[in-house]
Amino acid sequence: MLQLAKDLLRKLQQKETIQDLDETLDGLRRVIIYSDWRYYVQSDPVLSDYEYDQLYAWLKELETANPDKVSADSPTQRVAQGLTKAFPTVQHLVPMLSLENSYNADDLDDWDRKAREISGLSEIEYCIEPKFDGASISLIYENDRLLRGATRGDGVSGEDITTNIRQIRSIPLGASFAAHGIQTIEIRGEVLINKNTFKAYNEQRAADNLPPLANPRNAASGSLRMVDPREVAKRGLEAFLYHMSYHTMTDGKAEPEEIRTHSNTLELLSTLGFRSPAKQMKVVKGIQAVIDYVLEFEKERDSLPYEIDGMVIKVNDYALQDRLGMTTHHPRWAMAYKFKARQATSRLIDVDFQVGRTGSITPVAKIEPVHIGGVTVSSISLFNEDVIREKDLKKRDMVLVERAGDVIPYIVKSLADLRDGTEEEIRFPTECPVCKEKLFKPEGESVWRCINLNCEAQVVERMIHFVSKDAMDIRSLGESNVRKFYSLGLMKDIPGIYKMDFGKLEQLEGFGKKSLTNLQSAIEQSKTQPLHRLVFGLGIRYVGETTAKTLANAVNHLLDFRDWTEEQLLALEDIGPKVAGSIKQFFQTDDNIDMLKELETLGVNLKSTRADHPAGGSLDGQTFLFTGTLNKLKRSDAEAMVEEQGGKILSGVSSKLNFLIVGEDAGSKLEKAKKINTIRILSEDDFLNLIQSPATPQ
Ligand code: IVH
Repeated sequence: MLQLAKDLLRKLQQKETIQDLDETLDGLRRVIIYSDWRYYVQSDPVLSDYEYDQLYAWLKELETANPDKVSADSPTQRVAQGLTKAFPTVQHLVPMLSLENSYNADDLDDWDRKAREISGLSEIEYCIEPKFDGASISLIYENDRLLRGATRGDGVSGEDITTNIRQIRSIPLGASFAAHGIQTIEIRGEVLINKNTFKAYNEQRAADNLPPLANPRNAASGSLRMVDPREVAKRGLEAFLYHMSYHTMTDGKAEPEEIRTHSNTLELLSTLGFRSPAKQMKVVKGIQAVIDYVLEFEKERDSLPYEIDGMVIKVNDYALQDRLGMTTHHPRWAMAYKFKARQATSRLIDVDFQVGRTGSITPVAKIEPVHIGGVTVSSISLFNEDVIREKDLKKRDMVLVERAGDVIPYIVKSLADLRDGTEEEIRFPTECPVCKEKLFKPEGESVWRCINLNCEAQVVERMIHFVSKDAMDIRSLGESNVRKFYSLGLMKDIPGIYKMDFGKLEQLEGFGKKSLTNLQSAIEQSKTQPLHRLVFGLGIRYVGETTAKTLANAVNHLLDFRDWTEEQLLALEDIGPKVAGSIKQFFQTDDNIDMLKELETLGVNLKSTRADHPAGGSLDGQTFLFTGTLNKLKRSDAEAMVEEQGGKILSGVSSKLNFLIVGEDAGSKLEKAKKINTIRILSEDDFLNLIQSPATPQ
């Protein structure tokens, strides 16, 4: 296949005239499908993005010139135009049953005993695989083509989501079932969002002031029902196929060996290009080996890139499965083994309203402490007023709490059935809980705000942010010291950090000479921090670390921004109207200007450090973005390397981006970048080479 790819690329480069159109089309499709499989199913790419894009563009060009030659399973046919008006209800070929659950070794022993009694066998062969925690789907292939994709729905019928399913690149549009005698097949599986993609997605939502999605499962099922398939394509969905529920053979063909056991079917699905749990499955004899494997696998749970909530154990032999049969809601030949619950119920005692550094009011539920997945949870953010309404939460309600993997705990819902009438409405305050100013909610936003810049809560939060690690990095002055010194009147605002009376500090309990000397020198050192750290530390709304660097590089002195227009700000890399408006407002506020002047008088550096990266650096003017996990470099070091050579770090993928450096488990940014021809996509090694001998920009 690689040889074919190389031949095609050579032909393309040498602009050879095409001798045989059908052969070229077929070759291009095969190479692209193979490359997709290596990339999305095997996570082991074979073509560089540039080569892939060239071949894809060539295929597209040939198909546009010869529309009669376009086949439904051509890789170009994933891309969909327009919105889906409705998802019609469709019947599954076989009802999608649920699984019976087990929670411990005894449950599994009981199940095995019954299966042995019914079958009369002394030992049963089982296949064990992960229980993926996503959204179930069912796919039908007929004559080797994907015909339909549907949601589980009520098990009997689901929604036809074929167009969205086609956006999932690990699901082949065509597969050679016919070579195994199969004419029609219905297969089931799970659509997932991997943990990294999910995290990146929620970070984006947070930046857009939207509450995060609760967990990857909800994100996956929500994505499958989106009306715009192009949006679905951007979500980075993945799919595992784990069950053959129905099939017919081509006339005269007998069932082949490949589909006589479940494990063989998983192998077959893998061979045909699907992502199946063939790699993770284990075939064992007897229930004790099952118990050993599930307990062993549970330890790996958190190290997997996607969420699983247990294991599924299936009788391996299909003939034996048939003998065991099923009840009305679950097969007797399969059993789910559920891992330790990451959900618990608790009582919602009260709601606190916390004021953030930009004045946002966040409701925080105080619950009776519960133990979930190894930690005690007693406090849970509710994000905004809408969340309280949507989840119908009341004080004293029993609530269902979930903490999935490394996702922050959240309240799934209130258990309204358990109410006894003593519950109380949660009233969102109309005034700031700290300074009592009237709260505002800007049009189109869901967050209430205190707009009093002198609100004590905001002042303290701003100081905590100012001294934090990624801002001015005044290590000995952490959150608790800031709160303490503020409450004792030892510093009242950001400039106050540089005016502290150390004589008074010496009298405080718990502050020895050594720690005070350390504190003093940390404060002193912070005065010479590069400008971008100060800009970030000011906590201007929407200004994250990347924007702070852009801003610091755009002026000679921070106060120069007083004269900048919104248009000038908009012309900077990565700055849109919302961000520009916020920056403009900051530099037009007299109190802020007075504070900056005072900081300068106190010795804090307000001058740009851009002289550190003189124009003419080897990456001068080029823009970079890192995504996924890097293996050799720390992300912050890699970014510093770029900046040292005059390059810039952007926060998102746009046409302004020159290089995307892709680490492991890259998600939506990579997908987005692939659609922009001018972006060069590099591996970590490519990046290291480039840093050593920078290329000329394209
Ligand atoms: S087999 C008739 N295998 O778990 C049996 N299901 O709680 C078909 N699930 O509805 C299902 N991973 O959505 C099977 N490896 C796996 C699975 C799995 C996740 C889901 C599936 C099912 C639910 C039952």
